[in-house]
Amino acid sequence: MNRWIINPLCKKAKINKAVYGHFSEHLGRCIYQGIYVGTESSVPNVNGIRKDVVEALKEMRIPVLRWPGGCFADQYHWRDGIGPKEQRKKIVNTNWGGVVEDNTFGTHEFMELCTLLGCDAYINGNVGSGTVQEMSDWVEYLTSGNESPLTQERCENGQEKPWDVAYWAIGNENWGCGGHMIPEQYAYEYRKYSAYCRHHTLGKKLYRVACGADGADYNWTENLMKVLSVPAPFGTKLVEGVSVHYYTTTGGWDYKGSATEFTDKEYYSLLSRALFMDELLRRHTHVMDRYDPNKEIGLVVDEWGTWYEVEPGTNPSFLYQQNTMRDALVAALTLNIFHKHADRVHMANLAQIVNVLQSVILTEGDKMVKTPTYHVFRMFSPHQDSTVVDSFIETKPIGMDSIEIPNLHESVSVSEEGILNLSICNLSATESFEVQSILVETNISEITASILTEEPHAYNTFDKPETVEEQPFTDFIIQENKICFSIPACSIIQFAVK
Ligand code: AHR
Repeated sequence: MNRWIINPLCKKAKINKAVYGHFSEHLGRCIYQGIYVGTESSVPNVNGIRKDVVEALKEMRIPVLRWPGGCFADQYHWRDGIGPKEQRKKIVNTNWGGVVEDNTFGTHEFMELCTLLGCDAYINGNVGSGTVQEMSDWVEYLTSGNESPLTQERCENGQEKPWDVAYWAIGNENWGCGGHMIPEQYAYEYRKYSAYCRHHTLGKKLYRVACGADGADYNWTENLMKVLSVPAPFGTKLVEGVSVHYYTTTGGWDYKGSATEFTDKEYYSLLSRALFMDELLRRHTHVMDRYDPNKEIGLVVDEWGTWYEVEPGTNPSFLYQQNTMRDALVAALTLNIFHKHADRVHMANLAQIVNVLQSVILTEGDKMVKTPTYHVFRMFSPHQDSTVVDSFIETKPIGMDSIEIPNLHESVSVSEEGILNLSICNLSATESFEVQSILVETNISEITASILTEEPHAYNTFDKPETVEEQPFTDFIIQENKICFSIPACSIIQFAVK
């Protein structure tokens, strides 16, 4: 029996809904075909944007979408993607396969997508090959309601009113594809760029994200924070968020492994690497705490997810991969970790939303399928903007050879209406476990629950899209303030307790 102690009296930080964010990049079939098919397509669309994908993402309650990259962002010049489509410049997508980028999906199309989705926009500006002027102009073009040559141009391109842009990244991976900089060098650049990135609409604020570390590079965070802590005149705030990127592979960058064909050992190896997110956030937070003890600056995990070898027979530069029940567990445990770090983690963006790495949606022509990861995001969505409460579960170690992970993983939050959201996953590939959740000082009046469970290799295909799907879960007993149930191997359960 594993006891799960939940204390709703001990409320912690609010979970920013933006930790359920996603990432769209001009990479492979993410934007073109996955999101945008053009107005002439036979795939049902609104101004070229796929209707089926928009509907599915709305149902999943997507809160924020990052665009246009990734590495693509630091080669992207926004002016190439505005104005009449037939006059837009065709460029080479040098990061992702050298394919032609015809820029038919640009600023107006992205903002229309966010409007259709009802989500916030997170735009990633170009530091690596751009200029301060270019970035500053883009922010003005998007967000200013005043008269200026740029707003005039926006009107001529069909958008009279300024848009609201919630988040703005100043460069991407500037230690790598975004310019091979060292942390101090980037930090100096950041100070300059950020001075010219203001939301131009009165009363709105742009949340500016500085490029953070590559995984466990705590030295980057240290040096970035040091330079950003040097005060600007008049107490001007310099930064709202610092990013970090972390991808989960089967055995490191030398052995990414297969998405669908893996041994038990590889299964546990991947999950243990996903669990590293907790240490990563703790240690980056520890560095940030020294410069920002009041936790005013957020940690933004704006790229995360599993990264495997591409699906056999697909373009290696397009990074297209399948998504199994194992990926669903990675999503669930990672979201649990984000909840537990809600006081510092303000946003996170799973890479990439359609047809690339740990995608929630895959498409093929006019077909679309929701992946197991999609179902986790939908099931866990009640956590968005809820408040984390204290919880602890007794676990036992499981795994293979030297790989050891806990059998169970959990998090709990309470909504504004007082509903308790309990999430638990069983990471064992083979064994079920008995759980007794004990809810301190709680009168349980009603419980609804759902489960996602299948064997680890299971995935959804265009022909069999419902192999891994959320199902109602009723196999539990309520005893006063306790919920007793058995959690099957390789499964995720979400409870709503009133
Ligand atoms: O997600 C694919 C790539 O991974 C992104 O473009 C880049 O930021 C990261 O290295």
